[in-house]
Amino acid sequence: MDKEVTYRVGIPVLGPRGETLGRLEKVLLTESRHLVTGLIVRALESLHILPLDRVTEVSASEIRTSVLPEEFHKFPVFDPTQYEEVPPWFFPPGHHIELGALVTIRPLDVREQGEEEAMTRRAFMGRSVAIVAAAIGVSLLVPIGGYIMAAATTPMKDSWQDLGVKLQDLPLDEPVGHSFRAVSVSGWMRVPEEKSVWLIRHSGPSDPASKPEDQVLGLDSPLERKDSDPRLTVLSPICPHLGCEPQWHKGQKLFICPCHHSIYQINGKRIGGPAPRPMDTLPARIAEDGAISVIYEQFAIGIAAKKRLA
Ligand code: FES
Repeated sequence: MDKEVTYRVGIPVLGPRGETLGRLEKVLLTESRHLVTGLIVRALESLHILPLDRVTEVSASEIRTSVLPEEFHKFPVFDPTQYEEVPPWFFPPGHHIELGALVTIRPLDVREQGEEEAMTRRAFMGRSVAIVAAAIGVSLLVPIGGYIMAAATTPMKDSWQDLGVKLQDLPLDEPVGHSFRAVSVSGWMRVPEEKSVWLIRHSGPSDPASKPEDQVLGLDSPLERKDSDPRLTVLSPICPHLGCEPQWHKGQKLFICPCHHSIYQINGKRIGGPAPRPMDTLPARIAEDGAISVIYEQFAIGIAAKKRLA
């Protein structure tokens, strides 16, 4: 029987001419290989073991066999005290049992010849492999643990992302959406992800827009204060209201969020809509040759505080 089979306890077991032999009560499994070997069929007050090779069909409503009624009572009587019940998840792949059904496995003394010996050998091998693995594990624990601890405490400076763009290549006072491949550091894992930011190159420190509202309101972190430059503002593309992406509207010289129409000035300052705070600025550095790098971070949305997400 190579197709998927569901055994539903209580369905009739029928002979070749459609005569009812009894009802399915349990399913017999081998212990070591979890193979279905027989069905326990109740015929009036007695339970008989019907070998699986005499079953011709199992459907949701009935089981068909090649066994004649007069032959059925010759099959061995099932003695429940000699067997152990196991939960449904014990069933082999391709065989299912309806919820609440009982599954039975064969006890030690009726295993196939050699099976017990094979079991013992397998158990010995399994234990040996486990002991060796444990020893290797312990010997590796210290250096690996050290590595993990060191990586888990990787300082933020390691998260600087080179954007591959230079300040002098950006237009003045015109936001540019820039995508890049960021590597996010999560404990000891480094996961490359596609990210984007808004880059705004200001005309100069005297440009009033060069001071983002984050700084005015004191929402920026000490890191951002240290790593900010009046020539450049880097804005997160995520709207602090509910996480949509505001777009730059050249004609109006405003960022407008398409979802609930929050409106922001070129430096991220809110001038309308439901957003609870300005667009979030990100720490940025400008190298001597003008190369820009940022720390890409995300912040909680829907709240006035600029709360960094872990
Ligand atoms: S998500 Fe931007 S305004 Fe609501």
